[in-house]
Amino acid sequence: MLKRYEQVADYIGDQILSGLLKAGERVLSVRQCASELGMSISTVIRGYELLQDRMLIESRPQSGFYVRQQLNLPQKPETTSPEQRPVEVNMGKLAVQILQDSRDRKIIQLAAALPKIDFPAIAQLNRITAQVAREQSRANQIISIDNVADYESPPGNKALRRKIAQRLLNAGVSVHPDEIVITLGCQEALVLSLNAVTKPGDTVAVESPNYYGMLQAIETLGLKALEIPTDAETGISLNALSLALREWPVTACVLATNYSNPLGSCIPDDCKIKLANMLEKAGVALIEDDINAELTYESHRPKAIKSYDQTGNILLCSSLSKTLSPGLRIGWVVPGRWLEKVQHLKLCNSGANATITTLITARYLESGTYERHLKQVRKHYKQQRDYVLQLISRHFPSDIRVTHPQGGFILWIRLPKGVDSMDLYERAMTENIAIAPGCLFSVTQQYTNFIRINYGQESPQNLEKAAILLGRLMRELM
Ligand SMILES: Cc1ncc(COP(=O)(O)O)c(C=O)c1O
Repeated sequence: MLKRYEQVADYIGDQILSGLLKAGERVLSVRQCASELGMSISTVIRGYELLQDRMLIESRPQSGFYVRQQLNLPQKPETTSPEQRPVEVNMGKLAVQILQDSRDRKIIQLAAALPKIDFPAIAQLNRITAQVAREQSRANQIISIDNVADYESPPGNKALRRKIAQRLLNAGVSVHPDEIVITLGCQEALVLSLNAVTKPGDTVAVESPNYYGMLQAIETLGLKALEIPTDAETGISLNALSLALREWPVTACVLATNYSNPLGSCIPDDCKIKLANMLEKAGVALIEDDINAELTYESHRPKAIKSYDQTGNILLCSSLSKTLSPGLRIGWVVPGRWLEKVQHLKLCNSGANATITTLITARYLESGTYERHLKQVRKHYKQQRDYVLQLISRHFPSDIRVTHPQGGFILWIRLPKGVDSMDLYERAMTENIAIAPGCLFSVTQQYTNFIRINYGQESPQNLEKAAILLGRLMRELM
C-alpha cells in the first residue's frame, strides 16, 4: 500500500506526467488539495515535498507551487552495428562480480537487473510461506495436502502450470498446461531450450547488445554467438538477420521480444509475424525470452511472438523474477515441438524445482492479487523512468544518448566521446555506486562507451545522488 503522502504525490504527479498540468502552471494549493483528497494539511505538505524531490514541482515564495520546466530528453542511441561473424564467447568474471556486489547494502545498486522487492505482494508471499509451512506439519496425516518433501518432477506443479497457461492467454498464446515445463527461473528455461535445439559448435543469432546471462549460456554450451544489429525501439533488424541467415549456418535465434535487456526494445507485431515466418522457413529454431513483457507501461502487455507460431518452432521462456521475486526461482518454458526433449533435459539438469516455492507461487497466483500487484509495479517503474530521465538531462554531459523504454526498469546509455565504461565503473565503485559496463553485453568487445543502469530499485534520493556523481565522473574522464 502506498503511504498517504505518496498518494498525494502520485495524484498530482500523474497529472503532470500525462500532460494535463503543463510547465509553469500553478498546482492546487495545499488547502485545496487537502480538501479535494480528504487528507490532512501536513500529509499534503509531505506529498508536495516528495514532488519537489522528484523535480516535478517548485515552490515560489508567497505564491504557491508550480509545475517545473521538464528538460528536453537526450536522444536515443543509434541502431547498433556489431561485427557480424560467429564468435566464441569468453566472459563471466565481471558478471559474477556484479552479482556479488549487488548484495552489498552500502552500494547504490544500478548494476544488476534486479527488481524492487518491497511491494505489498512480497508481504503476501511471506504470509503464504508461513501458511504452507504450518500445513506441512499436518501433511503426513492428510493425503490431499501437497508435501514439500515430494519431488516436483518435470513438467512440474500442475496448479502452477494451469495458472501460467491462463496468464499466457494475455500474450495471445493458447496452450494446455501439459505443454509447459516449470524451470529454475528464466535462465534455466533459456539454457534448456538452447540445449534442446543446438549441439556444441553451432551458431546462434542474437540481438546486439544482449543480456550477459544469455551470452554466458552460449559460452558454457560451446556455441558461437552471431550478433545482429538491433534498434533501441523496434528490436532486431529483420534485414540484417535475413542476410545473416543466408551467409552463416545459423541453428537457433534468441530474441527478447518485449522490453529487451539492455535496450528495452519491443518488436512491433507486424515484425513479430515476419520473424516467426522467416525463421520457420529457414529451419532455425526461435527461443523467445518474454521475461519483461508484463512490466509494460502500456495498458496491455505486448503479444509474445509465440502467439504467431504455427508449427511449434518457437520455445517461449519466462519467469516471475522481474515482476514478483527472483528468489522464488520460478520460470517456465513452452518448448513447442521440443517438449519431450526439454522435459528430459530438465530431469538431467536439476531433477526438479524446489517443491516449496512452486506450492507458494501457485497459491499466490490463485489468490487473484497478481494483476493488482502488476499495476503498482508498472506505475512505480514508469514514474522512476521519468524521474531518472530528468536527472540524466540535468546532471550528465549533453552529448550522451539514452533509451526511452516503454516497459521494464533499465536504461542503456551511450557515454560522452572518450569515456570508457570500465573506467567509469571502477571510479563509481570507489564511491559505492554500481553500474553495468557496456562490454558485458557483447561478445565482440563492442559498447565500451555504454553503460546499463537499473532505475527500478533505488530510492529517488539515491538515484539523484548517483546521477550527480556519475555526471561529475564522466566530465572528469572526458
Ligand atoms: C532478459 C533476461 N532474461 C533472463 C533472465 C534470467 O532470469 P531468471 O532470474 O528468471 O533466471 C534475466 C535476468 O536478469 C534477463 O534480464
